[in-house]
Amino acid sequence: MQNPFKFGAVVEKEFFTDREKEAKEAKGVLESSNHLILISPRRYGKTSLVLKVVEPLKRPLIYLDLQITTDAADMATQLLKRVLRINKWENVKKTIAGFRIVPTVELNPLTNGVDVTFRPSVGSGFTPLEDVLNLIDKVGEKGKRPIVVLDEFQEIASLDENLPKQLRSVIQHHTHVNYVFLGSAESMMRQIFESKKSPFYHFGYLMTMDKIPYANFLRYLETRFAKVTSHARVVAEKILDFTDRHPYYTQQLAYYCYAFLDDDDGCCEDIIDCVVNRIVETHGNDFEKLWNTISKTDKRILIMLSEGEKTSSVLQPASTVYSGLKRLTKQGFVVKNKTYEIDDPFFAKWIAGKRA
Ligand SMILES: Nc1ncnc2c1ncn2[C@@H]1O[C@H](COP(=O)(O)OP(=O)(O)O)[C@@H](O)[C@H]1O
Ligand SMILES: [Mg+2]
Repeated sequence: MQNPFKFGAVVEKEFFTDREKEAKEAKGVLESSNHLILISPRRYGKTSLVLKVVEPLKRPLIYLDLQITTDAADMATQLLKRVLRINKWENVKKTIAGFRIVPTVELNPLTNGVDVTFRPSVGSGFTPLEDVLNLIDKVGEKGKRPIVVLDEFQEIASLDENLPKQLRSVIQHHTHVNYVFLGSAESMMRQIFESKKSPFYHFGYLMTMDKIPYANFLRYLETRFAKVTSHARVVAEKILDFTDRHPYYTQQLAYYCYAFLDDDDGCCEDIIDCVVNRIVETHGNDFEKLWNTISKTDKRILIMLSEGEKTSSVLQPASTVYSGLKRLTKQGFVVKNKTYEIDDPFFAKWIAGKRA
């Protein structure tokens, strides 16, 4: 029996649960003339959700993760490669030949495909990108409306500080494309889309995504654990107690618990504890390295959070705590739901364990 849990990569099909409400909302936006902005902390399931929503629409999908792009010219290259994957060379070559900066085009005899590159050159970074984006709009004019997903969009300004403004000035004229902007750093994403001074101010329909609802996640876990234990309900509850419904960490813990139970169906009393401790141990080195990158003030805040104490009881001026929490949130250590919490329950456990 294959382990029914999956963590890290995009999840689909039987690994994917819930999100019906969000999927419906996102689909509605993509079937309209609007652009979609989706914000949540890392690993809550944004990429998985969007790909799941786009798939049945059977429209051209151009997906690009900005974390792996280095500058505007590279972004242009990456986008154009993707355009060529879903369009016949014949249909686009005329437009590409008319680009102000013509890319290097090489036939790849192995794949029968075409490789393209824009050489990065000073001052011209945005021109190729503009041409490629206009090409995508043109493709949409002739056929099905493409969906362009720009993942980890909060990185945009780090590619080039002028990029947000330039990008907006071009894509605001596109009427044959739906753009989807995904982002993990909530404060940066809100800055981009909700600050009046930002070029992307109110550029699309903004959605935020929470963790997966308890009842649904419980059912998802329980039905899968029923295959390896008669205590499926208890195991599922304990897992959710520990992860507090975090999509990624729940899948991770469930994966290891399932593997453990699949080996020998023992009593479930200490299984979760045992598996949690193993995972914490495995990551001990990484946690230690991370810990050493954190300032003393921020360490104090993390310790308080890991011990489940209210941050108001940290013996420091409120303003110091507040700026510390903001910093930790920006770095992804802490997320703000109803209250501030440490994002990674294993890291929280590691901190608490070191202090015990
Ligand atoms: N709807 C879901 N059902 C089950 N697991 C999910 C779901 N969404 C996310 N996950 C878990 O979270 C992990 C991260 O998902 P991902 O889509 O990459 O999140 P994000 O794009 O927000 O960082 C997945 O590998 C999976 O383990
Ligand atoms: Mg993602």
